[in-house]
Amino acid sequence: MPRVLVLFAHPAYEKSRLNRRLLQAIRGLDDVTIHDLYEAYPDFQIDVAAEQARLVAHDVIVVQHPFYWYSAPALAKEYLDLVLEHGFAYGSTGHALDGKVLLNATTTGGPEAAYQVGGRNRYTMRQLLAPFDQTAYLCRMRYLAPFVVHGALRLDPDTGCTEAQRQYRSLVVALRDGALDLDRAAAAERINDLVGGA
Ligand SMILES: Cc1cc2nc3c(=O)[nH]c(=O)nc-3n(C[C@H](O)[C@H](O)[C@H](O)COP(=O)(O)O)c2cc1C
Repeated sequence: MPRVLVLFAHPAYEKSRLNRRLLQAIRGLDDVTIHDLYEAYPDFQIDVAAEQARLVAHDVIVVQHPFYWYSAPALAKEYLDLVLEHGFAYGSTGHALDGKVLLNATTTGGPEAAYQVGGRNRYTMRQLLAPFDQTAYLCRMRYLAPFVVHGALRLDPDTGCTEAQRQYRSLVVALRDGALDLDRAAAAERINDLVGGA
């Protein structure tokens, strides 16, 4: 059974509304590890060896974060900068991550309509997340379409948030169980549409 690692990066968890609820939705699942990066490394002093070992021990890596300035919060970038070392993650002798799956799970303030070519933000989410896609490619990982919840600030707590929680839990369970068609998941614009709500 594939084991899922959720790298959670939110610099203000106490203020989070949506990511907090998404995290709640997947807590306690068997074979799913939640690793809160800002809690573990408030001073950004990442334990590279420990993080590399954690990556090796999992098959599916989900980077869960609010969308900040069209990307992930700073500690997620610092994590990639330090942990994905040459000779570990890439290069002729760096094969530790070969074949593992990587995806972003993210929430945006902006609405879905803004993330279109010709829209207010001019680019799609997949386009904006291209650095993660290419990072996965260089590390010989499989990059899947992102799980995205748009319009976080306006989402109704009883309907929108609950539906997003259901979708996210279904996604993580499907990733854990190897129940997702990875070719379709890699090709999609958003992975949300590939999972049921149950
Ligand atoms: C520093 C900062 C940068 C942000 N940048 C963006 C952005 O580029 N695009 C966007 O749609 N929302 C942006 N937002 C809004 C957040 O994505 C939104 O507040 C978050 O997804 C809500 O999730 P939460 O309730 O878990 O905090 C930004 C918010 C902050 C604080």
